[in-house]
Amino acid sequence: MRKILVTGGAGFIGSNFVHYVLNESDVTVVVLDKLTYAGNPRSLEGALSHRANLVVGDVCDEVLVDELVASVDAVVHFAAESHNDNSLRNPRRFLDTNVIGTYTLIEAARRHDVRYHHVSTDEVYGDLELDDPNRFTEVTPYNPSSPYSSTKAASDLLVRAWVRSFGLKATISNCSNNYGPYQHVEKFIPRQITNVIDGVRPKLYGQGQNVRDWIHANDHSAAVWLILQRGIIGETYLIGADGEKNNREVVEAILQIMGQPSDAYDFVLDRPGHDLRYAIDSSKLRVDLGWRPQFSDFIAGLENTIGWYRENEHWWRPKKSQTEAMYSSLGQ
Ligand code: NAD
Ligand code: DAU
Repeated sequence: MRKILVTGGAGFIGSNFVHYVLNESDVTVVVLDKLTYAGNPRSLEGALSHRANLVVGDVCDEVLVDELVASVDAVVHFAAESHNDNSLRNPRRFLDTNVIGTYTLIEAARRHDVRYHHVSTDEVYGDLELDDPNRFTEVTPYNPSSPYSSTKAASDLLVRAWVRSFGLKATISNCSNNYGPYQHVEKFIPRQITNVIDGVRPKLYGQGQNVRDWIHANDHSAAVWLILQRGIIGETYLIGADGEKNNREVVEAILQIMGQPSDAYDFVLDRPGHDLRYAIDSSKLRVDLGWRPQFSDFIAGLENTIGWYRENEHWWRPKKSQTEAMYSSLGQ
């Protein structure tokens, strides 16, 4: 593999993946990104060089996608509308990017017989009760709750159908909640870190009891890179780092690390249809491909992430007031 196309490479996980791949290998990377409100070329600073370039464009643009896919050995598809809260207010663009965008890419990959990796989410499986001893596995039935997760589920099913009907050389990964540098301030952890920096109390939806299974974006990148090289065509791999925490625990940890009283947060209006708990069993990835997370200490990973937001205010500040205005209009 000498040249890969990374869609959504100016987003949170995509940019972490581009930095990871450039460090770990000598492949050339072409990033295709529309630079929506969630994309930021500054996330690729230091990466854009003779081995990486950014093409600004839409994954739904058939002509552009065909030309780019024809020029590479593999596609890693991160581009998406990714935020549940936005999908509840304006679902249409989730259908366009997440469903039609994926369709456009897999059609091009099929035409040019190019290896394709599809980046997806654990949310396709719906949610678990707090006391359910089971976790999600590769055979858990799909049961998405939100417009976002239903479009991701639809895109996964398209990929599975293209593998079976057309022999597309594809793998799929479904990962749990990521944290780390370059994450948009609309998302839970960066929102609360930047609120504390601004002297604003963190906001917990509902009672803060919802559980997410946190993984550092670098560990997600390592898993995707491994699956791209060693994954079995047609297979799905779940990615998770045994990082279950409820939202209250996460906020209390942020407040403690940032030197604030650990109860200095507020409860706000809950998200409609709010999934209660996600939990991943990543045994298949660990046993079959030998993957292990490097960031196994969540508090240490959180300290690094808080340090990054403290040192990179120029990166997040331009998006902060607009994001908070949107939340405050929703009572959140
Ligand atoms: P993000 O919102 O930070 O980034 C998405 C990127 O895609 C942005 O750079 C944006 O400009 C680009 N984009 C959006 N629409 C586009 C279009 N039509 N054409 C080209 N580019 C477009 O998202 P993220 O959190 O980095 O998520 C990346 C992928 O990983 C998504 O597919 C998401 O479903 C999946 N995922 C995310 C998480 C998580 O915790 N964030 C967990 C599991 C899976
Ligand atoms: O599980 C993987 C998914 O994780 C990805 O597919 C999505 O792209 C990604 O956005 C993320 O979805 P969530 O909805 O779980 O992430 P979010 O950061 O929006 O919220 C995390 C939890 O925190 C969730 O229970 C809602 C809650 N929350 C969120 C915000 C923004 C709060 O309590 N307060 C907040 O201000």
